[in-house]
Amino acid sequence: MKHVILITGAGKGIGRAIALEFARAIRHHPDFEPVLVLSSRTPADLEAISLECRAEGALTDTVTADISDMADVRRLANHIVEHYGRIDCLVNNAGVGRFGMLGDMTEEDFDYTMSTNLKGTFFLTQALFAMMQRQRSGHIFFITSVAATKAFEHSSIYCMSKFGQRGLVETLRLYARKSNVRITDVQPGAALTPMWGEVNDEIQSLMMMPEDVAAPVVQAYLQPARTVVEEIVLRPTGGDLQDE
Ligand SMILES: NC(=O)c1ccc[n+]([C@@H]2O[C@H](COP(=O)([O-])OP(=O)(O)OC[C@H]3O[C@@H](n4cnc5c(N)ncnc54)[C@H](OP(=O)(O)O)[C@@H]3O)[C@@H](O)[C@H]2O)c1
Repeated sequence: MKHVILITGAGKGIGRAIALEFARAIRHHPDFEPVLVLSSRTPADLEAISLECRAEGALTDTVTADISDMADVRRLANHIVEHYGRIDCLVNNAGVGRFGMLGDMTEEDFDYTMSTNLKGTFFLTQALFAMMQRQRSGHIFFITSVAATKAFEHSSIYCMSKFGQRGLVETLRLYARKSNVRITDVQPGAALTPMWGEVNDEIQSLMMMPEDVAAPVVQAYLQPARTVVEEIVLRPTGGDLQDE
Protein backbone atom coordinates (compact mmCIF):
# COMPACT_ATOMS: atom_id res chain seq x y z
CA MET A 1 0.00 0.00 0.00
CA LYS A 2 1.29 3.46 -0.91
CA HIS A 3 2.04 5.86 1.96
CA VAL A 4 2.33 9.56 1.10
CA ILE A 5 4.93 10.95 3.51
CA LEU A 6 5.96 14.62 3.54
CA ILE A 7 9.23 15.42 5.32
CA THR A 8 10.20 19.07 5.81
CA GLY A 9 13.89 19.89 6.15
CA ALA A 10 14.64 16.64 4.32
CA GLY A 11 17.83 17.97 2.73
CA LYS A 12 20.14 17.79 5.72
CA GLY A 13 20.67 16.34 9.19
CA ILE A 14 17.80 14.60 10.96
CA GLY A 15 15.24 15.11 8.15
CA ARG A 16 17.61 13.59 5.63
CA ALA A 17 18.20 10.58 7.92
CA ILE A 18 14.44 10.11 8.40
CA ALA A 19 13.89 10.09 4.62
CA LEU A 20 16.56 7.44 4.15
CA GLU A 21 15.24 5.35 7.05
CA PHE A 22 11.72 5.35 5.52
CA ALA A 23 13.23 4.22 2.20
CA ARG A 24 15.31 1.49 3.87
CA ALA A 25 12.25 0.19 5.73
CA ILE A 26 11.14 -1.33 2.41
CA ARG A 27 13.86 -3.99 2.92
CA HIS A 28 12.07 -5.39 5.97
CA HIS A 29 8.49 -4.47 5.06
CA PRO A 30 7.93 -5.47 1.41
CA ASP A 31 4.28 -4.28 1.55
CA PHE A 32 5.38 -0.78 2.59
CA GLU A 33 5.48 1.52 -0.46
CA PRO A 34 6.55 4.99 0.70
CA VAL A 35 6.07 7.96 -1.59
CA LEU A 36 8.53 10.39 -0.03
CA VAL A 37 7.77 14.05 -0.65
CA LEU A 38 11.04 15.73 0.28
CA SER A 39 11.05 19.44 1.00
CA SER A 40 13.55 22.12 2.09
CA ARG A 41 15.00 25.37 0.79
CA THR A 42 17.97 23.89 -1.14
CA PRO A 43 17.15 22.01 -4.38
CA ALA A 44 20.60 20.37 -4.68
CA ASP A 45 20.20 18.77 -1.22
CA LEU A 46 16.79 17.44 -2.21
CA GLU A 47 18.08 15.95 -5.46
CA ALA A 48 20.87 14.15 -3.56
CA ILE A 49 18.63 12.60 -0.90
CA SER A 50 15.99 11.79 -3.51
CA LEU A 51 18.52 9.72 -5.48
CA GLU A 52 19.58 7.84 -2.34
CA CYS A 53 15.98 7.02 -1.44
CA ARG A 54 15.19 5.88 -4.98
CA ALA A 55 18.18 3.56 -4.86
CA GLU A 56 16.40 1.85 -1.94
CA GLY A 57 13.24 1.44 -4.02
CA ALA A 58 11.17 4.35 -2.67
CA LEU A 59 9.19 6.69 -4.89
CA THR A 60 10.24 10.30 -4.34
CA ASP A 61 9.13 13.79 -5.20
CA THR A 62 10.94 17.02 -4.30
CA VAL A 63 9.39 20.40 -3.51
CA THR A 64 11.64 23.37 -2.82
CA ALA A 65 9.86 25.48 -0.23
CA ASP A 66 10.70 27.88 2.59
CA ILE A 67 8.14 27.26 5.32
CA SER A 68 8.75 30.70 6.82
CA ASP A 69 7.05 32.06 3.69
CA MET A 70 3.26 31.66 3.80
CA ALA A 71 3.01 31.50 -0.01
CA ASP A 72 5.42 28.53 0.04
CA VAL A 73 3.45 26.84 2.83
CA ARG A 74 0.27 27.13 0.74
CA ARG A 75 2.10 25.90 -2.39
CA LEU A 76 3.51 22.88 -0.51
CA ALA A 77 0.13 21.94 0.95
CA ASN A 78 -1.56 22.41 -2.45
CA HIS A 79 1.08 20.21 -4.07
CA ILE A 80 0.04 17.36 -1.78
CA VAL A 81 -3.66 17.94 -2.49
CA GLU A 82 -3.25 18.19 -6.26
CA HIS A 83 -0.70 15.41 -6.80
CA TYR A 84 -1.82 12.84 -4.25
CA GLY A 85 -5.23 13.82 -2.86
CA ARG A 86 -4.21 12.34 0.50
CA ILE A 87 -1.47 12.47 3.14
CA ASP A 88 -0.48 9.61 5.42
CA CYS A 89 2.40 11.18 7.31
CA LEU A 90 3.78 14.67 7.91
CA VAL A 91 7.19 14.98 9.53
CA ASN A 92 7.51 18.53 10.85
CA ASN A 93 11.29 18.54 11.01
CA ALA A 94 12.41 21.83 9.37
CA GLY A 95 13.79 24.05 12.07
CA VAL A 96 16.46 26.64 12.71
CA GLY A 97 18.46 27.69 15.74
CA ARG A 98 20.32 30.87 16.61
CA PHE A 99 22.38 30.51 19.77
CA GLY A 100 23.99 33.09 22.07
CA MET A 101 23.69 34.82 25.41
CA LEU A 102 20.25 36.31 26.10
CA GLY A 103 21.48 39.91 25.94
CA ASP A 104 23.03 39.40 22.50
CA MET A 105 19.93 38.08 20.70
CA THR A 106 18.40 40.43 18.12
CA GLU A 107 14.93 41.04 16.72
CA GLU A 108 16.16 39.47 13.49
CA ASP A 109 17.21 36.30 15.38
CA PHE A 110 13.78 36.22 16.98
CA ASP A 111 11.80 36.67 13.75
CA TYR A 112 14.01 34.26 11.81
CA THR A 113 13.54 31.49 14.37
CA MET A 114 9.85 31.99 15.05
CA SER A 115 8.86 32.29 11.38
CA THR A 116 10.13 28.77 10.69
CA ASN A 117 9.82 26.90 13.99
CA LEU A 118 6.42 28.29 14.98
CA LYS A 119 4.63 30.08 12.15
CA GLY A 120 5.62 27.80 9.29
CA THR A 121 5.18 24.65 11.36
CA PHE A 122 1.75 25.79 12.56
CA PHE A 123 0.29 26.71 9.18
CA LEU A 124 1.64 23.67 7.33
CA THR A 125 0.23 21.47 10.08
CA GLN A 126 -3.11 23.29 9.98
CA ALA A 127 -3.46 22.69 6.23
CA LEU A 128 -2.46 19.02 6.25
CA PHE A 129 -4.20 18.07 9.49
CA ALA A 130 -7.47 19.21 7.87
CA MET A 131 -6.86 16.58 5.15
CA MET A 132 -6.14 13.92 7.77
CA GLN A 133 -9.34 14.83 9.64
CA ARG A 134 -11.33 14.28 6.45
CA GLN A 135 -9.54 10.97 5.81
CA ARG A 136 -9.86 9.98 9.47
CA SER A 137 -6.28 8.72 9.31
CA GLY A 138 -2.73 10.05 9.35
CA HIS A 139 0.32 10.56 11.52
CA ILE A 140 2.12 13.82 12.34
CA PHE A 141 5.62 13.85 13.83
CA PHE A 142 7.09 16.98 15.40
CA ILE A 143 10.84 17.00 15.80
CA THR A 144 10.89 19.31 18.80
CA SER A 145 13.86 18.92 21.17
CA VAL A 146 14.87 18.29 24.75
CA ALA A 147 14.91 22.12 24.66
CA ALA A 148 11.09 21.91 24.44
CA THR A 149 10.97 21.06 28.16
CA LYS A 150 14.37 22.14 29.51
CA ALA A 151 16.16 25.50 29.40
CA PHE A 152 19.67 25.96 28.06
CA GLU A 153 21.54 29.20 28.73
CA HIS A 154 22.57 29.89 25.12
CA SER A 155 19.19 28.91 23.67
CA SER A 156 16.64 31.50 24.85
CA ILE A 157 14.87 32.08 21.52
CA TYR A 158 15.34 28.48 20.38
CA CYS A 159 13.86 27.20 23.67
CA MET A 160 10.90 29.58 23.31
CA SER A 161 10.25 28.23 19.82
CA LYS A 162 10.52 24.61 20.95
CA PHE A 163 8.39 25.08 24.09
CA GLY A 164 5.92 26.71 21.69
CA GLN A 165 5.96 23.74 19.34
CA ARG A 166 5.10 21.57 22.33
CA GLY A 167 2.07 23.77 22.93
CA LEU A 168 0.94 23.01 19.40
CA VAL A 169 1.59 19.28 19.87
CA GLU A 170 -0.53 19.10 23.00
CA THR A 171 -3.39 21.18 21.55
CA LEU A 172 -3.39 19.22 18.31
CA ARG A 173 -3.64 15.94 20.25
CA LEU A 174 -7.06 17.05 21.52
CA TYR A 175 -8.29 17.24 17.92
CA ALA A 176 -6.28 14.30 16.66
CA ARG A 177 -7.67 11.76 19.11
CA LYS A 178 -11.19 12.56 17.86
CA SER A 179 -10.07 12.16 14.25
CA ASN A 180 -8.11 8.90 14.44
CA VAL A 181 -4.87 10.81 13.71
CA ARG A 182 -1.63 9.91 15.47
CA ILE A 183 0.67 12.60 16.91
CA THR A 184 4.26 11.90 17.97
CA ASP A 185 6.48 14.42 19.72
CA VAL A 186 10.13 13.54 19.10
CA GLN A 187 12.50 15.25 21.55
CA PRO A 188 16.13 14.67 20.64
CA GLY A 189 19.14 15.88 22.54
CA ALA A 190 22.32 16.80 20.71
CA ALA A 191 22.71 15.05 17.35
CA LEU A 192 25.59 15.80 15.00
CA THR A 193 24.08 17.72 12.06
CA PRO A 194 24.93 20.85 10.02
CA MET A 195 22.83 22.87 12.51
CA TRP A 196 25.80 22.71 14.89
CA GLY A 197 28.36 24.07 12.41
CA GLU A 198 31.96 23.08 13.16
CA VAL A 199 32.17 20.63 16.09
CA ASN A 200 35.48 19.36 17.47
CA ASP A 201 36.17 15.64 17.91
CA GLU A 202 35.75 15.72 21.67
CA ILE A 203 32.23 17.22 21.47
CA GLN A 204 31.31 14.95 18.54
CA SER A 205 32.05 11.94 20.75
CA LEU A 206 29.36 13.17 23.17
CA MET A 207 26.62 13.46 20.52
CA MET A 208 24.08 11.18 18.84
CA MET A 209 24.01 10.68 15.09
CA PRO A 210 20.97 11.72 12.98
CA GLU A 211 20.17 8.09 12.17
CA ASP A 212 19.75 7.40 15.92
CA VAL A 213 16.76 9.78 15.81
CA ALA A 214 15.47 8.52 12.46
CA ALA A 215 15.15 4.83 13.38
CA PRO A 216 12.60 5.23 16.25
CA VAL A 217 10.57 7.67 14.11
CA VAL A 218 10.09 5.08 11.39
CA GLN A 219 9.44 2.33 13.98
CA ALA A 220 6.72 4.51 15.52
CA TYR A 221 5.13 5.06 12.11
CA LEU A 222 5.09 1.33 11.40
CA GLN A 223 3.27 0.47 14.64
CA PRO A 224 -0.25 -0.90 14.10
CA ALA A 225 -2.64 1.98 13.29
CA ARG A 226 -4.47 1.34 16.58
CA THR A 227 -1.36 2.39 18.56
CA VAL A 228 0.34 5.77 18.80
CA VAL A 229 3.80 6.37 20.22
CA GLU A 230 3.07 9.75 21.75
CA GLU A 231 6.58 10.79 22.79
CA ILE A 232 10.10 9.79 21.94
CA VAL A 233 12.86 11.31 24.11
CA LEU A 234 16.40 10.57 22.97
CA ARG A 235 19.61 11.75 24.64
CA PRO A 236 23.28 10.99 24.26
CA THR A 237 24.06 8.25 26.77
CA GLY A 238 26.25 10.69 28.71
CA GLY A 239 23.36 13.18 28.99
CA ASP A 240 22.87 16.64 27.52
CA LEU A 241 25.84 18.69 26.43
CA GLN A 242 26.25 21.45 28.97
CA ASP A 243 25.19 24.07 26.50
CA GLU A 244 23.10 23.45 23.35
N1 LIG B 1 20.68 18.47 15.75
C1 LIG B 1 20.26 18.50 17.01
O1 LIG B 1 21.06 18.37 17.95
C2 LIG B 1 18.81 18.67 17.30
C3 LIG B 1 18.37 18.37 18.59
C4 LIG B 1 17.03 18.52 18.90
C5 LIG B 1 16.14 18.94 17.93
N2 LIG B 1 16.59 19.22 16.68
C6 LIG B 1 15.59 19.66 15.71
O2 LIG B 1 15.60 18.77 14.63
C7 LIG B 1 15.21 19.45 13.43
C8 LIG B 1 16.26 19.21 12.37
O3 LIG B 1 17.48 19.75 12.83
P1 LIG B 1 18.89 19.39 12.21
O4 LIG B 1 19.84 19.36 13.32
O5 LIG B 1 18.79 18.23 11.29
O6 LIG B 1 19.15 20.75 11.39
P2 LIG B 1 19.94 21.02 10.02
O7 LIG B 1 21.03 20.05 9.87
O8 LIG B 1 20.25 22.47 10.03
O9 LIG B 1 18.84 20.72 8.91
C9 LIG B 1 17.65 21.45 8.92
C10 LIG B 1 16.87 21.19 7.66
O10 LIG B 1 15.69 22.03 7.74
C11 LIG B 1 15.63 22.84 6.58
N3 LIG B 1 15.03 24.13 6.88
C12 LIG B 1 15.41 25.04 7.81
N4 LIG B 1 14.61 26.11 7.76
C13 LIG B 1 13.70 25.86 6.79
C14 LIG B 1 12.62 26.60 6.26
N5 LIG B 1 12.31 27.82 6.70
N6 LIG B 1 11.89 26.05 5.27
C15 LIG B 1 12.19 24.83 4.80
N7 LIG B 1 13.22 24.09 5.23
C16 LIG B 1 13.96 24.62 6.22
C17 LIG B 1 17.06 22.97 6.11
O11 LIG B 1 17.00 23.26 4.73
P3 LIG B 1 17.99 24.28 3.97
O12 LIG B 1 19.33 24.08 4.59
O13 LIG B 1 17.90 23.88 2.57
O14 LIG B 1 17.49 25.61 4.22
C18 LIG B 1 17.62 21.58 6.41
O15 LIG B 1 17.30 20.69 5.36
C19 LIG B 1 15.04 20.91 13.83
O16 LIG B 1 13.69 21.19 14.05
C20 LIG B 1 15.84 21.01 15.10
O17 LIG B 1 15.38 22.06 15.93
C21 LIG B 1 17.90 19.09 16.35
